[in-house]
Amino acid sequence: MAGSFKTPAAPFSAMYVFQHSAHLRRYLALYRASGRTLGFVPTMGALHEGHLSLVRRSLAQDDLTVCSIFVNPTQFNDSEDLKKYPRTPEKDIALLSKSGCTALFMPAVAEVYPDEAPPDTEFSFGALEQVMEGAFRPGHFRGVAQVVARLLTLVQPQRLYLGQKDFQQTAIVAEMLRQLQSDVELNIVPTMREPDGLAMSSRNARLSPEFRKAAPAIYKALLEARRLYPHSSAADINAQALQTLTAAGLRPEYFDIVDGHTLLPVQNGRKATSAVACVAAWAGNVRLIDNMVLIG
Ligand code: PAF
Repeated sequence: MAGSFKTPAAPFSAMYVFQHSAHLRRYLALYRASGRTLGFVPTMGALHEGHLSLVRRSLAQDDLTVCSIFVNPTQFNDSEDLKKYPRTPEKDIALLSKSGCTALFMPAVAEVYPDEAPPDTEFSFGALEQVMEGAFRPGHFRGVAQVVARLLTLVQPQRLYLGQKDFQQTAIVAEMLRQLQSDVELNIVPTMREPDGLAMSSRNARLSPEFRKAAPAIYKALLEARRLYPHSSAADINAQALQTLTAAGLRPEYFDIVDGHTLLPVQNGRKATSAVACVAAWAGNVRLIDNMVLIG
């Protein structure tokens, strides 16, 4: 992708766009030497308000905000999904320039995965990578950890920003940072929603009008779970949610109430100190995920 986009004309001239890691590294070294703090927002592009809220959070806390746009092939277990992933580089550059982002890294695949790259740390995440998304997308989180670790090595930020919509991803990255004994501070930013409750996602752009109308049933199911929890059992709440999703014409893959740290199913809602409802459902040929913290 890198190289195939046009850099927008002025007035978006304040942001540097890098395609090569060596250039980005050199540029960031100057900042680091001056003692200024660096925030990093990794993305796969097709940017929306959700991504921009991460940028805003970084701008409020850090001296310099670096974004990356890289559709990481190693986290896609389905080649069709990778092919269809929305790509809007010119629009993304314009949005980020206006947002106040200081530097954007838009590498080609060979830049992130050169042949001579040193082998990655072998992460093992146990149950965190086996449940929910991990069960339906084998290898997905190894790919996420691999690319986030590589990008962090390059950018060396003080703070890393991820959206809460990918709840399991945030748990994986937190565990990865722990295993690496990293000092990077993980900031998880609340999910941005459309007026009808649909969580903002790059994948929403691929929804047909019919399924765009049906998709807010995901938020409705989460709100019902919040209303029913902890008085109803997890099994009853899950059954109710699956019914809501199916009635709207969606195909749910899972709806689980899990502990926010272990991601294991909450057994007894009345005793739990952390509970998050997590859901994945197909809206036509688009797979959507969402979640809601119930307690904790
Ligand atoms: O959430 C995403 O967009 C991706 O998983 C991430 C964190 C940029 C890694 O490729």
